[in-house]
Amino acid sequence: MNTTFVGLKLKNPIILSAGPWSRDGLSIKRALEAGAGAVITESIVSDAILDVRPRIAYNGSGAQNIRLYSDIQIEGWEREMEIAKSAGGIVIASISGHTPSELAYLASKMEHFGADAIEISVSNPMGESLEILASDADQMYRIIKEVVEHVDIPVIVKLSQTATNIAKVAKAAKKAGAAGVSAINSIRCILGVDIETGEPMLPTYGGYSGAPIRPLGLAAVATVSQTVNIPICGIGGIENYKNALEYMMLGASAVQVGTTVMINGFEKIREIVEDLDRWADSKGIKSVAEIRGKALTHLKSFDEMKVEPVISHSNHEPCREDCKACVKGCIYGAITRLESDVEIDKNRCTGCGVCIFVCPEKKLSLRW
Ligand SMILES: Cc1cc2nc3c(=O)[nH]c(=O)nc-3n(C[C@H](O)[C@H](O)[C@H](O)COP(=O)(O)O)c2cc1C
Repeated sequence: MNTTFVGLKLKNPIILSAGPWSRDGLSIKRALEAGAGAVITESIVSDAILDVRPRIAYNGSGAQNIRLYSDIQIEGWEREMEIAKSAGGIVIASISGHTPSELAYLASKMEHFGADAIEISVSNPMGESLEILASDADQMYRIIKEVVEHVDIPVIVKLSQTATNIAKVAKAAKKAGAAGVSAINSIRCILGVDIETGEPMLPTYGGYSGAPIRPLGLAAVATVSQTVNIPICGIGGIENYKNALEYMMLGASAVQVGTTVMINGFEKIREIVEDLDRWADSKGIKSVAEIRGKALTHLKSFDEMKVEPVISHSNHEPCREDCKACVKGCIYGAITRLESDVEIDKNRCTGCGVCIFVCPEKKLSLRW
């Protein structure tokens, strides 16, 4: 399934996001060889510093990272880009910084080294200054405009989920000449605390990524799709082709994967690409454009919601022995467990929907 994003023709919509998995030419080459539609470099900054150790924690579903940008100086990226581009394929340079001139300098250098596009990443869950900047539409406008004026390649702006008004920042990006936006970056978090020692999993705040942030990424992409006419790349918690499709059906033209590749290796890219192609072939779909935004037509504003008098119904298939999941999950006290079925009190059920999701047999549904 091919796609076009910010004018770049991608053989598939699966892009490897900015992170340590794309820290140098060799890693980028490996990701392209694993089938990625494009790869984004780890964020390049003007003052590269060494990493702290440890810097990543994982709890089986979500990750916290305190990795701070590429540790290769901008000059070193000339060689890395040569290696990266030797595989053929599209390489997007991620840059980060505080000032318009700093970012414009990094962008034009990376354009000169062969980058096909620039992604500006200005949110950083570890410190506060960039998070504040990521919410400031006026300052973002100034930064983006400066970068856009210094390069001839497309400029993408990576949005932060914590921006107070993500649509306003996306509008500023468009007005400043950005060719597209990507959303979302990782989100400031503390993954957990060891209650025996009192130690947090990592000794400072970090960026939350992986499956648990997917609902936040989906909402960010849908919000931007509904408010700004600009190409969008969806990011956050994508673990398989279905997750990628969710983002595209909410308006994304392409998607990025990060944490799942960090945990499962580069072959994960191939798996997602192949599964997506199989799905598209089975439906006769050739391009993302055919399904992009399909879910948006079903997405209403809260004000448009109608109160329909639906209540829970059982299909009368036998319940699991001793299962009382729906009884426990009914805060309205409307469900009683019978011998092998449940009884729903029509006068008490308010049609909230919880029982539908907790029933392991999927035997309940909401109807009139
Ligand atoms: C270890 C790690 C390092 C990251 N480094 C960067 C970075 O240098 N620049 C950037 O824009 N995003 C960075 N990210 C954020 C990812 O690109 C991505 O936006 C985020 O992880 C959400 O996607 P995911 O859930 O698929 O990982 C990093 C994420 C992780 C986990």
